[in-house]
Amino acid sequence: MATVTFRNVNKRYPNGFHAVHDLDLEIADGEFVVLVGPSGCGKSTTLRMLAGLEEVTSGEILIGDSVVNDVEPGNRDIAMVFQNYALYPHMTVRQNLAFGLKMRRTPKAEIERRVADVAETLGISSMLDRRPRELSGGQRQRVALGRAIVRQPRAFLFDEPLSNLDAKLRVQMRAEIAALHQRLQTTMVYVTHDQVEAMTLGQRIVVMDGGVVQQADAPLAIYQNPANRFVAGFIGSPPMNFVRGRLEGDVFQHVGGEVLLANGDSAGGELPPTDGGSPPPRQLPTRQERPSAWSGPAWLGVRPEDLALDAGGPVLGEVTLDVVEQMGHESMGYFRLAGERCAMRLPADSGLAAGDHVRPRLRPGAWRLFADDAEGKRLL
Ligand SMILES: Nc1ncnc2c1ncn2[C@@H]1O[C@H](COP(=O)(O)OP(=O)(O)OP(=O)(O)O)[C@@H](O)[C@H]1O
Ligand SMILES: [Mg+2]
Repeated sequence: MATVTFRNVNKRYPNGFHAVHDLDLEIADGEFVVLVGPSGCGKSTTLRMLAGLEEVTSGEILIGDSVVNDVEPGNRDIAMVFQNYALYPHMTVRQNLAFGLKMRRTPKAEIERRVADVAETLGISSMLDRRPRELSGGQRQRVALGRAIVRQPRAFLFDEPLSNLDAKLRVQMRAEIAALHQRLQTTMVYVTHDQVEAMTLGQRIVVMDGGVVQQADAPLAIYQNPANRFVAGFIGSPPMNFVRGRLEGDVFQHVGGEVLLANGDSAGGELPPTDGGSPPPRQLPTRQERPSAWSGPAWLGVRPEDLALDAGGPVLGEVTLDVVEQMGHESMGYFRLAGERCAMRLPADSGLAAGDHVRPRLRPGAWRLFADDAEGKRLL
């Protein structure tokens, strides 16, 4: 077992492409870290540098206390499981599992004991004498996992190990990998672009984009407090809704209307009356309650589950439903607001259908504001 440290690591490929920028990351002993991000963001490059399959252009990578930049992959004592788990087709499962140990001249009795142990853990004991072609995709993936586990490495690296499996098997293997980590308590670095895998497996998620770490934090912290618009939009399904507009003090204005974000009456959430009678005295928001002292172009971000007809907060606007998807326990309504495609949660029995007009409300405190610029930083 070991810690893993990236110190200001950069990767420039021979063609000049700068794939990883100034990566600083400390992974604790026994931690399960997930690297996530869109295709081409540098996840595999990062993992391959750690495995020693790709040279580091600048900076340092440490496993435990030692810098491994110049250590051969075979001497780093880590195991890697790829998407294309190439098993040796002419060998039985038992031989596949034993191969790495045999190469390291492990005593025969020890090999037998460890192979039996790993096969038991992964539920493949009855298949030890089969060849890979006699196994299902999930069983093969389990053998590939077994080959990594049997070596008892200091850390496991996974590069999209489940992406070749069908949806049902993925869910099952995901749970098995989580259980495996529970049992072994070995440091694991897991690459995926599946954000459900990231949310469910990671003790910490590192979100990358364009070779740059955008945020590294616990799954729920990332979900609830995304550092910028990229992270907010990447984590969550359906994704967070974004409406473009202008923030002026407490009021967010978009093409379709305006939303009073801190009306001092967030429990009731009604906009203050604008005419007639004697309106109830409106409490002025304190400095802390204000969404921002900042004025300018901004994006309002709200998750579909925080947008509902009865959400209690201010009304986002009057919209027309384009599509209503029935899911059984709830339904999802889609609409456009200020040109942006948005989704909102609806009760399963709402009876609403495409073409209906609704007034979605924000759940108090559940919206976020992001600067409308390249960085898209969250505004406080
Ligand atoms: N050998 C190489 N030479 C030049 N550029 C490369 C090389 N390998 C990868 N790249 C580029 O580096 C960037 C990062 O690649 P990487 O494989 O790390 O992405 P990734 O995040 O793993 O993406 P995916 O989700 O598609 O697997 C990409 O833009 C890719 O085109
Ligand atoms: Mg990759």
